[in-house]
Amino acid sequence: MRNRPDGAAAKNRVFRGFAATGGTDFELFRYKMIRGDTMNLLEAIEIRRSRRKFTGELIEPHATSVLNEFIREYNKVGNIRMELIINNGKAFNGFTKSYGMFSGVNDYICLIANENDHATAERLGYYGELLVLQATAMGLSSCWVGGMYSRSDMPVKLSENESVICAIIVGKSAEKESFKEKLIHGITHRKSKRPEEMLESDSPVPDWFMRGMEAVQKAPSAIHRQPVMFSYKNGKVSAYVKDISAPLMAFDFGIAKAHFELGTGGGTWEWGNNCEFTRRAEGNDGNG
Ligand SMILES: Cc1cc2nc3c(=O)[nH]c(=O)nc-3n(C[C@H](O)[C@H](O)[C@H](O)COP(=O)(O)O)c2cc1C
Repeated sequence: MRNRPDGAAAKNRVFRGFAATGGTDFELFRYKMIRGDTMNLLEAIEIRRSRRKFTGELIEPHATSVLNEFIREYNKVGNIRMELIINNGKAFNGFTKSYGMFSGVNDYICLIANENDHATAERLGYYGELLVLQATAMGLSSCWVGGMYSRSDMPVKLSENESVICAIIVGKSAEKESFKEKLIHGITHRKSKRPEEMLESDSPVPDWFMRGMEAVQKAPSAIHRQPVMFSYKNGKVSAYVKDISAPLMAFDFGIAKAHFELGTGGGTWEWGNNCEFTRRAEGNDGNG
């Protein structure tokens, strides 16, 4: 069983603002984050698990401002639109909204794009999962939600070709899962695939590649389908999904890429199907 983070210890390691990373250089900040100077996202991967019953408490102002700061930066570097909604769970709470799947929701992140824009959905998946892991490291619980919410109850302004195509609930939850949560977890969480079932290679894969796959194994995906295949051929790393236009597939793709990258210790993905991953050079810890 995965443990939840100790709130106080996790808080001390929380990222305290871009200024604290020595400037606004996003790459430097990212490597500091991966290295664990600010918080350990690999640890967050180990303890994260989708939660569906929240206590109804608001998240602390500190956590809100950290999340908002990340959202601002990710929106800029990723050319995406994410928005944190605070103290307004109307879109989720109540049987008619989410078939009673979620309760106690107050705070959530809207992921906004054109419904048919899979390239943007992939980036929303990638950066949204970084937010999930950052929230986890701050002692918060979370759940990706692909459709079971009332869009008209979300207080966001949308332009004509935009909609909230996915959401991430963040909030506090009890240490132990409720009976109902366990039940839903059992239904939505089929047996995890082994890393070997999600990779293709023409030679033995290096250890760092396997560490990436182990992080992928722990990534959330819609109905836990784990659809992303990773390839190691001629020493090159790439990833693909069979049909990027299938519902929520691009999100699963971006999420799995974020986990792989963190598991390997850092690197850079190209966006899109069959895209390549370039591993961060050994010894380059982002300090120039
Ligand atoms: C894009 C996406 C959409 C999801 N949509 C829902 C949803 O609508 N309702 C729900 O209860 N869980 C949803 N989930 C959570 C998955 O069911 C969950 O990640 C999966 O079962 C693996 O469990 P874990 O996250 O606890 O490891 C979604 C996950 C992802 C990545």
